[in-house]
Amino acid sequence: MSTPSYARLLRLMLIALFTAAAPATAGDTSAEPTPAALHAQMKQISGDPGSLSEALRRGQQSAAVCRHCHGAGGNSVLPEVPNLASQNAGYLLEQMNKFTLGQRKSSAFMEGMIKALTPDERIAVALFLSQQPVVRKPAAARTHSAAGKRLYDKLCVSCHGADGRGTDTIPRLAGQQVKYLEDALTRYRSGNGERVDPRMAAYTRNLKDTDIRNLAAYLTVLQP
Ligand code: HEC
Ligand code: HEC
Repeated sequence: MSTPSYARLLRLMLIALFTAAAPATAGDTSAEPTPAALHAQMKQISGDPGSLSEALRRGQQSAAVCRHCHGAGGNSVLPEVPNLASQNAGYLLEQMNKFTLGQRKSSAFMEGMIKALTPDERIAVALFLSQQPVVRKPAAARTHSAAGKRLYDKLCVSCHGADGRGTDTIPRLAGQQVKYLEDALTRYRSGNGERVDPRMAAYTRNLKDTDIRNLAAYLTVLQP
């Protein structure tokens, strides 16, 4: 993590700290519905135009505070903070559930931000972000990694797709922030519990550091 962006991240965390209304119930998961129930609820909302537009409106409100780090409409400008714009809704909900249940580890602050959302708000935020357009990076920022493409086509394409857009529950990787991609792959590989997924553990186990850099370099310039 480079020093200037880290300093900026810390500053943003302070801004977010003062703008986030952290309710007293943060961390209380006693009334937490099962992930399956939340995914079913999201599906139902998506299928009903009236409920969907209401959820999108509420999602926009709840996601206002996320902008400080994740950028306007979920288009991040910080290297270690992921884009959320046009990320797949089922995946976004799953990750927020994982943060809430302690199955994915991040800074206490980031976890607190998610735990401060009610289950309904998590669904609304996931739907809202999944519909935000992606801001494309300037052509100057694009350098293609042939080695990254070879590895991706061999190991990753079966799940994440040739265009890197995944499915409802498999994350979109195209255009993702390069530092964030490297961090995520390193975390799955390390098996230290920050990010736990048996499939990703299996597919990162034998990657070298240079493989991770090449894969991230390839994915970040893939048209989002
Ligand atoms: C202080 C900065 C900050 C704020 C504010 C913030 N986030 Fe994050 N968020 C991060 C960072 C950094 C990560 C990457 C964490 C990791 O992988 O450990 C992240 C990761 C995520 C992820 C996982 C994305 C993926 O691709 O797997 C989701 C979902 C998310 N944040 C949602 C939110 C929502 C919703 C809000 C607002 C309620 C929010 N964040 C506010 C910094 C922030
Ligand atoms: C068998 C299916 C499968 C294969 C093959 C696979 N992935 Fe994944 N990947 C997933 C799933 C599922 C997740 C979400 C896991 C979680 O909940 O953390 C994921 C998550 C990720 C993430 C985190 C995205 C984010 O927004 O945080 C990255 C990066 C990633 N995969 C890259 C790769 C790369 C690179 C390869 C090839 C070396 C690969 N994946 C191969 C299924 C797969």
